[in-house]
Amino acid sequence: MKVTIIGAGNMGRGIGTRIAAGGHDVQIVDRDPEEAKALAQELGGSAKGSGPDDPIEGEVVIFAIYYPQQQALDQYADQLEGKVVVDISNPVDVETWDSLATPPGTSSAEEMAARLSASRVVKAFNTTFSGTLVKGDVGGQQLDVFIAGDDEPAKQQVRELAESGGLNVVDAGPLKRAQQLEQAGFLHIKVQEPLGTGYGSALKVVT
Ligand SMILES: NC(=O)c1ccc[n+]([C@@H]2O[C@H](COP(=O)([O-])OP(=O)(O)OC[C@H]3O[C@@H](n4cnc5c(N)ncnc54)[C@H](OP(=O)(O)O)[C@@H]3O)[C@@H](O)[C@H]2O)c1
Repeated sequence: MKVTIIGAGNMGRGIGTRIAAGGHDVQIVDRDPEEAKALAQELGGSAKGSGPDDPIEGEVVIFAIYYPQQQALDQYADQLEGKVVVDISNPVDVETWDSLATPPGTSSAEEMAARLSASRVVKAFNTTFSGTLVKGDVGGQQLDVFIAGDDEPAKQQVRELAESGGLNVVDAGPLKRAQQLEQAGFLHIKVQEPLGTGYGSALKVVT
């Protein structure tokens, strides 16, 4: 698959590592093309780095940037028609770090879907920390990636991407489940200090 990751930061590296490990073509896009190229070089293989004015090449496009993503969504909306678009964000209110910034009854992913009505939005990867994605496991245990979406073929593509990179996928249901996933991601952030795990833990369903 051809995958574009917008954002050459922590999660660009984490998700990019897993997707490259799965043998897919990765395009990293960042407002700083040099950062995108450096990360692409680090990922190796066919990975390439691009700047903000270069065309989006992926059939799956992952937004690895912070909420609110309005400016980037406006910038790329036309190019995203028909594509699978993945929202990974934890929309924490960074003024207080005490709640999410999204109004009750919605989620970052649903806001994205409303803006990108011609795209197929999937929520994924928001409960996995970047360093654990680079490593690929926590304490030898496979990472769970929770996904939610209303378009089953789109979810299947995201599932294939995650599984080919060695991750275990948990289907959380329709896109509105992103509300619970974003709260779970927030909780996982909030327990880092008491646990002392330094963003090295994972949320996993044990069966
Ligand atoms: N870090 C984690 O472990 C983790 C875990 C789960 C979910 N998440 C979510 O993942 C998202 C990214 O987090 P992160 O830690 O990877 O952030 P980050 O390290 O700050 O990386 C974001 C990158 O995207 C770039 N960027 C921002 N807006 C852009 C745009 N419009 N076009 C192109 N590039 C743009 C940033 O450039 P500048 O430096 O110029 O701003 C930066 O290089 C957030 O929504 C976060 O909630 C993070």
